[in-house]
Amino acid sequence: MSVQGRVQHQSNQQDEGLYFYDFNVQTQDQQQEILNGLKSSPKTISAKYFYDEKGSQLFEAITSLPEYYPTRTEIQLLRQYHEQILQRAGQHCLLIEYGSGASTKIRLLLDALKPKAYVPMDISKDFLFDCAVKLRAQFPWLEIHATCLDYHQGATLPKQLPANFKKVGFFPGSSLGNFTPSESLAFLKSVRSNVGDNGAFLIGVDLVKDSSILNAAYNDEQGVTAAFNLNILNHLNRLGEGNFNCKHFSHYAYFNEQESRIEMHLTSDLDQVVYIFDEHFVFKAGETIITEYSYKFVPQDFETLAMNAGFKVNKMWSDDAEKFALFWLEAAP
Ligand code: AVI
Repeated sequence: MSVQGRVQHQSNQQDEGLYFYDFNVQTQDQQQEILNGLKSSPKTISAKYFYDEKGSQLFEAITSLPEYYPTRTEIQLLRQYHEQILQRAGQHCLLIEYGSGASTKIRLLLDALKPKAYVPMDISKDFLFDCAVKLRAQFPWLEIHATCLDYHQGATLPKQLPANFKKVGFFPGSSLGNFTPSESLAFLKSVRSNVGDNGAFLIGVDLVKDSSILNAAYNDEQGVTAAFNLNILNHLNRLGEGNFNCKHFSHYAYFNEQESRIEMHLTSDLDQVVYIFDEHFVFKAGETIITEYSYKFVPQDFETLAMNAGFKVNKMWSDDAEKFALFWLEAAP
């Protein structure tokens, strides 16, 4: 790990409350990963390629679509239950957020929890740094230990964190749903090891519900999700000098009840050949590329998963329609 430690400001004065750690994320060989995905059957593209600049903006737009209930429902739950969350976390915990992004949702908890320190973890170094600086300006009392790593590959906590405070993990947005079941278990186990025997985990989980609601959430009327899905091809074109033509593919998303997951695909509208990274790929009309799975959970199944990872469910908060839930997990002895 390279530790940059305390952050230096331009004035050369050190900010005593802002620390930055860089675990030197090893970006996998993208070319190999993309080619392997396109050579597999069925063809796949990893969902992480959604998030170039345009894709991140489109995802932001998705979160406020009328059909996409998860974000606003979770925000409402965080607002409604922050007192109960405080009762469980206690004041002055160490708050660790996995995939912190712009640290938007944590802002709803900071005033209530008054954590000893906040540990945002994200893969995107510059973005993480900028967000930490902004957050520190907004919450000058908050000690921040910004940690650059890819939590998909297991998260290690910096050794320099204040010792002897209750550790509370935070993972909103039902991002767990984008893992495969075995990845979910491995991730929850790594969180359990991070928070230790006295720790807890607050996680947002999208619940199984009427498939018409789920199908609408991933097939919005304005076509933003379709644009988000198709944009992955533009991103690939840039990475591998490819010639995917977005006009020759269509967005296709549906809830697979048996697997309890939304599947997002791109369907080839015609027989075509696409070149990328100097290789060619043949598409038959109607053939699809899988771009994302988004698993939805039955509360009982989620509880079993959490138990298998060494947690027990202490509380579930949900909206009236039980579309989305926040779970408070305690480390099981
Ligand atoms: C980031 N993730 C939790 C979103 C989801 O709902 O699975 C990504 C997304 N894909 C299409 N719409 C939103």
